[in-house]
Amino acid sequence: MSQSIPTEELPFHLTGNFAPVFDERTEFDLEVEGAIPPELAGRFFRNGANPQSGTSPHWFMGNGMIHGVELRDGQAVWYRNRYVQTPLLEEPDAPRMSAEGIVDRTRSCANTHVIAHAGRILALEEGSFPFEITKELETVGAYDFDGMLKTAMTAHPRICPETGELLFFGYGPTPPYLTYHRVSSDGKLMQTEEIDVKGPTMMHDWNITRNHIIFMDLPMIFDLEAAAAGGMPIRWSDEYGARLGVMPRDGGNDDVVWYEIDPCYVFHPMNAYEDGDKIVIDCSRFEKLAFGPADGKGTPPMLHRWTIDTLNRRVSEEPLDDRPADFPRIHDRVTGLPHRYGYMAGMGSGAETLGASLLKYDLQTGKSWTHDLGKGRQAGEPVFAAAAGADTAEDDGWILNFVYDAASDKSELIIADASNFDAAPVARVKIPARVPFGFHGSWIADPT
Ligand SMILES: [Fe+2]
Repeated sequence: MSQSIPTEELPFHLTGNFAPVFDERTEFDLEVEGAIPPELAGRFFRNGANPQSGTSPHWFMGNGMIHGVELRDGQAVWYRNRYVQTPLLEEPDAPRMSAEGIVDRTRSCANTHVIAHAGRILALEEGSFPFEITKELETVGAYDFDGMLKTAMTAHPRICPETGELLFFGYGPTPPYLTYHRVSSDGKLMQTEEIDVKGPTMMHDWNITRNHIIFMDLPMIFDLEAAAAGGMPIRWSDEYGARLGVMPRDGGNDDVVWYEIDPCYVFHPMNAYEDGDKIVIDCSRFEKLAFGPADGKGTPPMLHRWTIDTLNRRVSEEPLDDRPADFPRIHDRVTGLPHRYGYMAGMGSGAETLGASLLKYDLQTGKSWTHDLGKGRQAGEPVFAAAAGADTAEDDGWILNFVYDAASDKSELIIADASNFDAAPVARVKIPARVPFGFHGSWIADPT
């Protein structure tokens, strides 16, 4: 257990509010400061790494724990936090690969994201199968789309707002390095395509537009030799290069058009869309990512735009801000379509500072706003919950976010007006515990 190691010797992901919590709580009728908008009816779920042993070699590797709050009729009905019950949690030391070389994709951390599609709620981690959970955060089990899914599933699928399809990919350190999957609006896996990339790239996220998908073949690669020697399994490569691969949504490997770009790494695009013959991608871009000590010094991520000219087959690049920020989100209604607004977690120079402030960008005018969290307070990914109605403005809704308060060593769920971003939150839901900093989440509204 980590308790025996002096705190100052621990890596950041095991200290302060990154450190795991061990109680699984169920708390009803939470105290609220301010007024919860009554039209918010549903649940805010957020996933993150919470190593059950108390320690893990990397921030990305702890067991998944989901924290959730149900909102209804202006009340915060409950708070729950639950581990995703996977075989990795239950038998941490069992092998992931059989003697015959078969990978057990149910041995998942299940720690990265949680989404809802076709009546299922899925906890995701990019090396494994999804895990289905209930509205009360109980684990149902691994889900492989009725046996159709044979690869891992990214933690960053996209749901097309026009077709309801769930589009995703799987990647891994051994061939096939990349596989594309398309799931119908009612949850049937309809299409699977193996895609050629140059090598075992770490593809954390990707992009969709109305008609296309865009892969990011970037120079963070698996190095199994280094891993066998006890080093990081993933490293920056000066030789690999960087490419964007544009493919029609119903296409295959032969249809991919690859575009060289300046070397970089992107964990998270904000969104992508088509503009005539061009494809615009706004993303949080590292000029260089340092994943392990062997990578040397990295640079912080910042908002950046790639514009792919599909007619003349070239890409132009443009930095959009010089303030470090990551974990971009939009109104899900504009996924793959032109977006005006984006929201990000601002940060300093290290991952441990993620969420030091919240940022809103107007990509049309270039204006931006900062949501000041207050002294000693730190947030995470800003999730957008839409206001009721179909003809609302793109920023008509709320930003939901767990905010940690160092003075009280407790967290709140803040509900901030996205259209009045620099104002104080309209409501603060008091969580009677600490919610460790985590990764991604969703507002899962009740069906209307
Ligand atoms: Fe992510």
